[in-house]
Amino acid sequence: MNPKLFSSYTVKGVTLKNRIVMSPMCMYSSMQEDGHVQPFHLTHYESRAAGQAGLVMIEATSVVPEGRISHQDLGIWSDEHIEGLSKINEGIHRHGAKSAIQLAHAGRKANLRDEIFSPSAIPFNDSFKQPTEMNTEEIKKVVEAFKAAARRSKEAGFDIIELHGAHGYLINQFLSPLTNKRTDEYGGSKEKRYAFLREVIEAVQTEWNGPLFVRVSGNEYDENGNTMDDFIYFAKEMKNQGVDLIDVSSGGVVPARIDVYPGYQVTYAERIKHQASIDTGAVGMITSGLQAEEIVKNERADLIFVARAMLRNPYWAKQAADDLGYELQGPPQYDRAW
Ligand code: FNR
Repeated sequence: MNPKLFSSYTVKGVTLKNRIVMSPMCMYSSMQEDGHVQPFHLTHYESRAAGQAGLVMIEATSVVPEGRISHQDLGIWSDEHIEGLSKINEGIHRHGAKSAIQLAHAGRKANLRDEIFSPSAIPFNDSFKQPTEMNTEEIKKVVEAFKAAARRSKEAGFDIIELHGAHGYLINQFLSPLTNKRTDEYGGSKEKRYAFLREVIEAVQTEWNGPLFVRVSGNEYDENGNTMDDFIYFAKEMKNQGVDLIDVSSGGVVPARIDVYPGYQVTYAERIKHQASIDTGAVGMITSGLQAEEIVKNERADLIFVARAMLRNPYWAKQAADDLGYELQGPPQYDRAW
């Protein structure tokens, strides 16, 4: 029997040829602080598609300039960004891979010269700026920015959109009681902390009817943070709203020590998958084909996101196939030699 890792996965009519995803990774490589795609990005993403990842997800791409993590982040706040992003898509699609974009806003974790924003005026730590507490009008503007970014993502030819709701960035700052101390309709109970993400999803869906993923941090490593029950609640809400898959990472909400070991986040993906009955992606120190196959075959997650191992080896999928004794075809130019 062929490994499940190399079986196809279809979501809202988009078929990935295998379960391997290049996890989003910021490259901080835009020049002139304009968020534009550079030749580096084209080579970087196309090589992972040539390496036979089923899905190549591009890095956190900011929906507004003040939502960047750094001045060198990719951006999608203007129609002028569409052309460069389309070129990334051409490169990815040339190799039969599908493409995704991670739409993001850093909130209080923006490392910028200008004013930064968050649900509450609490800095991440001493080396970050004091954020301004967002008023309702500012919140609505960001929701609109996600919507416009969804339209541009479609125009640029992406197959899938992922919303970055993890690692302590803006959406996560609204979800977490550690960072959201609001007393209006956007803070307090878990229902209210979910309100911002609910509005972002609704706004995105007015422009986008393709597959929608959301990345969450499934453990905040703080006893006063969201619990697994909270994450199950959020996941069920997302499912009801039509989100297709939750990509489950962890941490980054508040400074914390994280015990990192092979597959350290897989149990969070597994619990959300089974308790909220929604597909999930597993990520975090998944480095071998055997390890990835164990996760998908035991139905602990549906997709495997690989970050650092795929930076080291763009042909990680080929290596994973070798681990599993499977003959993975492509790129055709290499098939005779492999
Ligand atoms: C990341 N990660 C990350 N995550 C995310 O959701 N959006 C992003 O833009 C980035 N940027 C980023 C840059 C770099 C250089 C690294 C190494 C990581 C996190 C990444 O997607 C992944 O979740 C973690 O790296 C854990 O997976 P690995 O590296 O153990 O496979």
